[in-house]
Amino acid sequence: MKLSHKETTTKLHDTDVLALYALEGDKPALPAGVELTKHSLDGFKGEFREVRLCDAVSGPAKRVLVVGLGKKDALDAERLRRVAAVTVQRAESALATTCSLLVDAALVMLCGADKLGQAFAEGALLGAYTWQKGKSKPKEPKLASATIVASKEIAAGIAKGIVYAEANAFARDLQNEPANRLTPREMAAAAKTLAKPGRITCTIIDEKGMAKLRMGLLLGVAAGSEEPPRLIHMVYKPKGKSKGRIALVGKGLTFDSGGISIKPAAKMDEMRFDMSGGAAVLGVFHALKTHDVPYEVHGLVGATENMPGNNATKPGDIHVAMDGTTVEVLNTDAEGRLVLADVLCYVKSKVKPEAIVDLATLTGAVVTALGHEMAAVFASTDKLERELRAAGDETGERLWPLPLLDVHKDAMKGTFADLKNISGGDLGAGSSAGAAFLVPFVPTTIEWAHLDIAGTAWGGSARDWVGGPMGSGYGTRLLLRWLETR
Ligand code: BES
Ligand code: MN
Ligand code: ZN
Repeated sequence: MKLSHKETTTKLHDTDVLALYALEGDKPALPAGVELTKHSLDGFKGEFREVRLCDAVSGPAKRVLVVGLGKKDALDAERLRRVAAVTVQRAESALATTCSLLVDAALVMLCGADKLGQAFAEGALLGAYTWQKGKSKPKEPKLASATIVASKEIAAGIAKGIVYAEANAFARDLQNEPANRLTPREMAAAAKTLAKPGRITCTIIDEKGMAKLRMGLLLGVAAGSEEPPRLIHMVYKPKGKSKGRIALVGKGLTFDSGGISIKPAAKMDEMRFDMSGGAAVLGVFHALKTHDVPYEVHGLVGATENMPGNNATKPGDIHVAMDGTTVEVLNTDAEGRLVLADVLCYVKSKVKPEAIVDLATLTGAVVTALGHEMAAVFASTDKLERELRAAGDETGERLWPLPLLDVHKDAMKGTFADLKNISGGDLGAGSSAGAAFLVPFVPTTIEWAHLDIAGTAWGGSARDWVGGPMGSGYGTRLLLRWLETR
């Protein structure tokens, strides 16, 4: 679906479906010339996400879709995104090929032009996203174009919303590809397409390069697979003076079978999404191709499979991280933290940023704790936690803090090596254990946050724009917002 903006004029252009919006308790203002059949809006209350598809007796549209915005005080960016998503989804199910979303001046005044424009653009585009590349005969959506009809001041917000939404879609497209088609080498190839002379570089480190760097943990995870691993290193340099250097690190397990500690068969197919942290990082660079932020941004993705091949790491094996730390691998299914640890070593020795944010589908435990609507954040400073949570609240990619205590860190101390990759004792708190494993690999002089996105990266269906059972692209828009506002 193509999204565009048309300035409000007295004459509306022809469209299959004209969408109008009404706050709870209000009836929508019908634009001049638009007339509905007599009882079309009987009983319409304007509740949040309430929809009424009406036949138009006259006017530029065959049908008018009235959408409720809910209570005035509750109308935030997330509700605007959902309402826009509901609009395009309803227009699609009504088999419309064109749809206009009419935003009147009162609504722009109420919400602010930038916020409204961005939220509507994101909601419409993300709500219309489908992934058809698995089908021999893709079912193309009927709805080919949507037009936001509103005053000129909304244009900048819409333009930004399109950048954010396309970045999210880039991440989703990577997520949704199955593991036989998106291998670590293919993920690296996708990253290469984001390079742009004078702006973004992309360096790929292969298995030989990793051996030279002594990345024993990452290579230990990759050892059970025929597919060679890749470390992706993207760099964005801002046009003007940089406010500092930031590293974004993503877990890029293109498939996680569990390795020798193999996973049960049920839902193992979902482990094609175990590269979602990496996809989110690459999504950010998709936006940075055209969208400026004031920081030098490094994006790093540790891409590999976790398979139980002949050479696979065996429970009890000891591997050596790039910084010399030894780790006994007691459970080969706790592989994400091993990959992240070596990438974090690489970041601290080669990139030396002022702040690191890593994203990883690290633990099933976070799905139990927080479900599909919020990801967990573990931050080394309150300031960074506040910044990220604010960006999450604004983008609808929300975060909730979980504890990282000394007991969690102590429980990762190894018996036969420096560390072990699963928690000793009977502490529970599996997500905290995953975070605690990473602590020794990040110097305390670097601000650091770990986001466990295992619950939010796919399968969230409660919010209209999120993507249902497919990838959600979670993290891309959150990080972009953070980079803009930090
Ligand atoms: N990729 C998984 C985490 C995961 C599980 C994400 C389910 C989404 C849904 C990760 O590599 C993993 O297997 N973690 C283990 C850790 C355990 C062995 C300590 C887990 O959560 O079970
Ligand atoms: Mn695993
Ligand atoms: Zn995993």
